[in-house]
Amino acid sequence: MQGVEASWWSVVLLLVSLKASPCLPQDSLPECICASDILSCTDANLTGPPSEMPVSTVTLDLSHNRLQQLEGGGFEELYRLETLRLSHNQVSAVHPGAFRNTSRLRHLDLSSNQLRALEHHFFLDVPMLEELLLFDNRIVRVESRAFAGVSGLKKVYLSHNLLTDFPFFSLHSQPHLSTFDLSSNRLNRLPLQDISNLPMILQRNLYLHNNSLVCECAMFSLFRLWEQQGFPR
Ligand SMILES: *[C@@H]1O[C@H](CO)[C@@H](O)[C@H](O)[C@H]1NC(C)=O
Ligand SMILES: *[C@@H]1O[C@H](CO)[C@@H](O)[C@H](O)[C@H]1NC(C)=O
Ligand SMILES: *[C@@H]1O[C@H](CO)[C@@H](O)[C@H](O)[C@H]1NC(C)=O
Repeated sequence: MQGVEASWWSVVLLLVSLKASPCLPQDSLPECICASDILSCTDANLTGPPSEMPVSTVTLDLSHNRLQQLEGGGFEELYRLETLRLSHNQVSAVHPGAFRNTSRLRHLDLSSNQLRALEHHFFLDVPMLEELLLFDNRIVRVESRAFAGVSGLKKVYLSHNLLTDFPFFSLHSQPHLSTFDLSSNRLNRLPLQDISNLPMILQRNLYLHNNSLVCECAMFSLFRLWEQQGFPR
């Protein structure tokens, strides 16, 4: 009797392990590697997302390609997407609805691209975004409502851009933000009142070194804090 039970269980286990592969037949995505819920299409000379992607994709890596624009609805079938890597492309335009239907997205890497501005519509469809990598672009302007639709933001990296000012007051409504990196930009004056109104955890983790800050008396306390933390001015 025990032998029958054991073989019955092995059939169940076999059926479980034969669960259909979420990957499409390899022929339809020759430039990508699919590993269950990860789709990796790096360094493949792509100018846009592949036309057929498995709807079960949770992590999509399109870094090191030649994307120039993110079109509206480009990822809309991937409603389970949580991580999207787009670094080292030439993205200069993010069209309205670029992240439509990917409302579970939590990690977005747009570093090392050609963005010049962060506009209010960019992140409207990704309210759960936690980590946003935007370093090494050409950003000169961040609209004050750029992060307004995102309520779970934790870490934002904007270093190595061309910002001369930044709407610090727009960060007051971000309760979970704990790291904000604006180092290596061209900021020369800081709105100290707006900064001192930010939550203390954010003030401590606001990275502003290597800008062109003009020294004013009121800034000495900030400078002292950075010195204690070992940052160059
Ligand atoms: C990349 O694609 C372009 C055409 O879109 C082609 O001219 C170029 O040779 C390709 N580069 C490589 C390395 O395959
Ligand atoms: C959008 O997401 C829903 C699930 O939330 C999915 O059923 C639907 O197919 C997606 N839309 C498109 C155009 O793929
Ligand atoms: C400081 O910022 C300049 C541009 O403003 C950049 O070229 C340089 O690499 C930065 N230095 C460091 C140590 O990051």
